[in-house]
Amino acid sequence: MTETKKLFIKSYGCQMNVYDSERMAEALGAAGYESVGSAEEADMVLLNTCHIREKAAEKVYSDLGRLRPLKGAKPDLKIGVAGCVAQAEGEEILRRMPLVDLVVGPQSYHRLPAMAEAVAGGARAVDTDFPEEDKFEHLPERPRRSIGPTAFLTVQEGCDKFCAFCVVPYTRGAEVSRPEARLISEAEGLVDKGAKEITLLGQNVNAWHGGQAGLGGLIRRLAKIEGLERIRYTTSHPNDMDDDLIAAHGEVAELMPYLHLPVQSGSDRILKAMARKHTAEAYLRLVEKIRAARPDILLTSDFIVGFPGETEADFAATLALIEAVGYGAAFSFKYSARPGTPAAEKPGVDPAEADERLQRLQALITRQQRAAQEAMVGRETSVLFEKPGRMAGQITGKSEHLQAVHAEAPERLIGEIARVRITRADPNSLAGTVVDPA
Ligand code: 5AD
Ligand code: SF4
Repeated sequence: MTETKKLFIKSYGCQMNVYDSERMAEALGAAGYESVGSAEEADMVLLNTCHIREKAAEKVYSDLGRLRPLKGAKPDLKIGVAGCVAQAEGEEILRRMPLVDLVVGPQSYHRLPAMAEAVAGGARAVDTDFPEEDKFEHLPERPRRSIGPTAFLTVQEGCDKFCAFCVVPYTRGAEVSRPEARLISEAEGLVDKGAKEITLLGQNVNAWHGGQAGLGGLIRRLAKIEGLERIRYTTSHPNDMDDDLIAAHGEVAELMPYLHLPVQSGSDRILKAMARKHTAEAYLRLVEKIRAARPDILLTSDFIVGFPGETEADFAATLALIEAVGYGAAFSFKYSARPGTPAAEKPGVDPAEADERLQRLQALITRQQRAAQEAMVGRETSVLFEKPGRMAGQITGKSEHLQAVHAEAPERLIGEIARVRITRADPNSLAGTVVDPA
């Protein structure tokens, strides 16, 4: 048995990467690596990267540049690039960055221990296969240490939608659903270790088809697990919101009244050019149906402004859709041309114009978010407390609608769900008092 080595993983991008980073730490943990909190303390640094927009991908290279002096001072330090940049750029990373020892794509994490061993022997290793075997079946059982009150569970990976702007179908590969029985036992394990809330993850989570029924069926089954109080899922595609999943929002008490449902644009012309395969009207009808099932649901979305060919009239249609829906929050991005995607071939919108549209869209979203926050004042909601707050005597957690809530309450309520009366709304958080520490 060799001495314990120290591992630092930095995650970029989506929650799927956060989950993958945990699983990588566990896989390397079984091979004698212990997680530490900074690159300075580590024998191995892994950057779990994101390729969705140019800025995210370039950040990895600047972070690698910043690791150069550390590697200079400590030549045995091993540096790895994982995630979607690793998948998209593979060997190119080794050529561009001589300090990188290891490149591993998202479907090959179960091979990390063997790769780490090769790297320790002085080799450089690359694995960006889409192997036949399922990495999750080959990753070690999740360890029995206790976890926080909220946990992620990847149920589905990859995407077959091929939206014209998006690299995900290329970096994460085709849609694959994990089998239901595995998910139930992993969820039971998470609850055993203290999780009260589980967020089901997938690039197209509502396309999950690893059981008899779709995601609605999985949610109904998971809701039966004793001690699992809250279920969420993300990210959904509008075309995969089937009737059973919508009905689950009205019928399953554990399914939280929150849904991230990206629409990207409100213009039919742009939606078509994006290959989203639905119209603005179809999205609005879907929202109506979801709200009929669960009237208090809080909706959020993603928007892209400045997609090639977007005119002022197209952008106005996006603002009109936002007005019609009324979102609780949204992410908005300036279109970024990504290598290998169909849209990257087309001439983009003037960048100054795109900036200006982004600001107008964000101003509207901010107004809607404020309204949603303020609507909570005077209301009672359930909060799952997760950690101490920034101020002494405060603890903080999430409402049913995924809003951050601070309350003056004893730390023993951390990990518990309590009824809270909301007394104040700030743009990004709520404050309240505990009325019933359940
Ligand atoms: N440019 C800008 N935003 C993008 N997204 C995905 N690809 C791009 C791109 N090329 C956004 C979409 C998606 C979110 C995760 O990232 O809005 O829903
Ligand atoms: Fe990308 Fe579209 Fe798939 Fe979402 S649905 S991951 S935006 S290709």
